[in-house]
Amino acid sequence: MRRKLIAGNWKMNLTALEARAMLATLRANIDKDSAALAKDRDILVAPATILIPAVSQALAGSSIALGAQNMHFEDKGAFTGEVSPAMIRPYGVTHVILGHSERRHIFGERDDLINRKVLAALKHRIVPILCVGETQEERDAGRTLEVVGRQTEAGLAGVNAEAAEKIVLADEPVWAIGTGRTATPGQAQEVHGSIREILRDRLGKEAGDKVRVLYGGSVTAENVDSLVSKPDIDGALVGGASLK
Ligand code: 13P
Repeated sequence: MRRKLIAGNWKMNLTALEARAMLATLRANIDKDSAALAKDRDILVAPATILIPAVSQALAGSSIALGAQNMHFEDKGAFTGEVSPAMIRPYGVTHVILGHSERRHIFGERDDLINRKVLAALKHRIVPILCVGETQEERDAGRTLEVVGRQTEAGLAGVNAEAAEKIVLADEPVWAIGTGRTATPGQAQEVHGSIREILRDRLGKEAGDKVRVLYGGSVTAENVDSLVSKPDIDGALVGGASLK
């Protein structure tokens, strides 16, 4: 059985002061000895890069994991404005979101770049959360599974079965992000099922079945249960609602 993972992607929100206040509340709810919450699922927050040191400190001794929202694939070098895996790892960053639709569509990241980042994350023992997802136009044209399939294959090029336990996929339909239009559990399960088939094909059944595939796109406290009740929806990548 795959353990559920609930991840909050804070995007470009919160100052260090606001983040500390929010984590104090979150920890009071999640880290309490009796909190059933932390027992049956993994919980992660992914703050903006500059907040990582403050959040790392605020999470000391917590069961909440720390993720980054992006990183470069090189360890160091002439890449103005970028941050390397070697720089974030010492803060206890265990996960990194890669290929988020905002990186793809606003900042022009392509599959080959995202793949290099996935391989760099694995090299540094950081779990890549590889994001895939179709636009509205692609869905309307009946190309959802083709697009998501291509992004999955390209993002995982060179990843072998041994690494399977150390990767997470996130299906985030572009049309569902920040729009309040969540995919129905059935729509999401169809896409996740096809991602699962690709994972089994590439990595073998046993390894493919270990990879968690999260859903993201207007997830809220109200709709999360019906989404994660589907067999191939192994958790959620939450934007807006993770700030509340
Ligand atoms: P929203 O939950 O705000 O739609 O954002 C989803 C997302 O992009 C998470 O990575």
